[in-house]
Amino acid sequence: MLSKFRFLQFSATLFSSASSRQIATFSAKFRPQMEMGSATNNNGKLVFRQLFEKDSSTYTYLLADASHPDKPALLVDPVDKTVDRDLSLVKELGLKLMYAINTHVHADHVTGTGLLKSKAPGVKSIISKASKAKADLFVEPGDRICFGDLFLEVRATPGHTLGCVTYVTEDGPDQPQPRMAFTGDALLIRGCGRTDFQGGSSEQLYNVCSKQIFTLPKDTLVYPAHDYKGFSVSTVGEEMMYNPRLTKDEETFKNIMANLNLSYPKMIDIAVPANMVCGLQDVESKAS
Ligand SMILES: [Fe+2]
Repeated sequence: MLSKFRFLQFSATLFSSASSRQIATFSAKFRPQMEMGSATNNNGKLVFRQLFEKDSSTYTYLLADASHPDKPALLVDPVDKTVDRDLSLVKELGLKLMYAINTHVHADHVTGTGLLKSKAPGVKSIISKASKAKADLFVEPGDRICFGDLFLEVRATPGHTLGCVTYVTEDGPDQPQPRMAFTGDALLIRGCGRTDFQGGSSEQLYNVCSKQIFTLPKDTLVYPAHDYKGFSVSTVGEEMMYNPRLTKDEETFKNIMANLNLSYPKMIDIAVPANMVCGLQDVESKAS
């Protein structure tokens, strides 16, 4: 099972190997039961929070392994405006933030990864290699991002942008059940990301949703990067049944996407250049 993954060994302070493809936080030698007064699932192992940024209707997700003594944590799709809120929560929950990861180069808000790196030294930014954006670590399909004993698998889901990925919790007895898919803007609740800029392709999006997301167990929880109608979570089965775009055949889907007549994103000229370099606040780039 593990052989299909490439490994990149990584610790809080040191890259141990650039040739392996598992991104790991801490060794798994010591796993005491922990007490934390916060909502967890998976027998208390996973700490999970869904956070919201209202101006861009962006969801940021905080995940951590509460069973590990260091409580390693990561943030998916942080926003620059809410970095202080996110860091306060990390502190209050007693977590150690290891990674700030993006599902893609966003066009509607500036990522918080650069700010997080400057305010919480040691945090590493992660984005897909296909995005061609700047980050500390680049992931490719099949890679695993490890935090404690929990893992996110990287699935390529281009179509909204060329470099979009979906991060999926792994299948396994010690992993969260049901599984969770952080779909970015590829699959939204009852919708999907637009495909008319940043290397987007409706054909590609249709195919990756079919092959990379709708092949997951139907009870897999779908957590998108945005919602504009007040939804917070869906499931793969629900979207296969009720998504008004992706339940159509491919030609109908392509027609829908070609005729959305969406306006030019108001933040795109600021957000995309900033997000290509970790939100411009990357301390290392300023120093160099
Ligand atoms: Fe996007």
